[in-house]
Amino acid sequence: MKILILPDRDAAVASCVALIADALTDKPDAVLGLATGGTMEPVYAGLLDRTRAGQVSLDRMTSFNLDEYVGLSPEHPQSYHAFMQERLFAPLKLEPARTHLPRGDAPDPVAEAARYDAAITHAGGIDLQLLGIGRNGHIGFNEPSSSLASPTRVKTLTRATREANARFFGPDEAVPRFAITMGIATILRSRHAVLLATGAAKAEAVAAMAEGPLSARCPASALQMHPKVTVVLDTEAAAGLELRQYYETVHPQGQEVTLV
Ligand code: F6R
Repeated sequence: MKILILPDRDAAVASCVALIADALTDKPDAVLGLATGGTMEPVYAGLLDRTRAGQVSLDRMTSFNLDEYVGLSPEHPQSYHAFMQERLFAPLKLEPARTHLPRGDAPDPVAEAARYDAAITHAGGIDLQLLGIGRNGHIGFNEPSSSLASPTRVKTLTRATREANARFFGPDEAVPRFAITMGIATILRSRHAVLLATGAAKAEAVAAMAEGPLSARCPASALQMHPKVTVVLDTEAAAGLELRQYYETVHPQGQEVTLV
């Protein structure tokens, strides 16, 4: 795991945006795995800025989002389809055929999950998978106790996740109980995983992910088995890391250092 600790949230977001932009510069038709949630909002804003400045183009990429709530249509304002449309796809006028999310309103969500996993494989697999992390250590919606060998499937959300995400829903709206999520095995198949975590609320989960035992108690710990992971943190999210000094020596200020 490459752990980059940046001085603050803005610097961590900028570092994450740069990793995505570099991947697209190297391979303009890259397959990106995308995430939603509060952590990702400034990342997509940063990508829009870079696109408008002519520094990067997303026109030729293909994307697969991690997850979608079961029961929500793409038009539902709290669906992850709507989140992505609003923050990235519509502003960039991306071709709908290139941007994929599981259909939350599919008549058979179990079959939809299997179809989605196969579609990722058919597209050649994911070059760069963007990830956030839940306070309970989930990645995608792989909640604690998820099989570390899981494919894309339907998962029941924990009460903690539903409470954490209630802020995106109206006071009279219930957070859905189920989601279709890429599985841990799906995520581990990506060629590069980039996890961004910012803020003190994520410190415990980040420490469990990077330095705790490999365990379904913290599904993100499965990333210890991924051959190429970059974890981008601000100092608050890094606060629980015992080996922090080592990470800061290897990558001072979250920067790459030359080996000679
Ligand atoms: C969203 C997703 C989740 C979030 C995580 C953190 O597509 O897969 O794993 O990344 O719940 O969410 P925020 O960023 O809202 O704290």
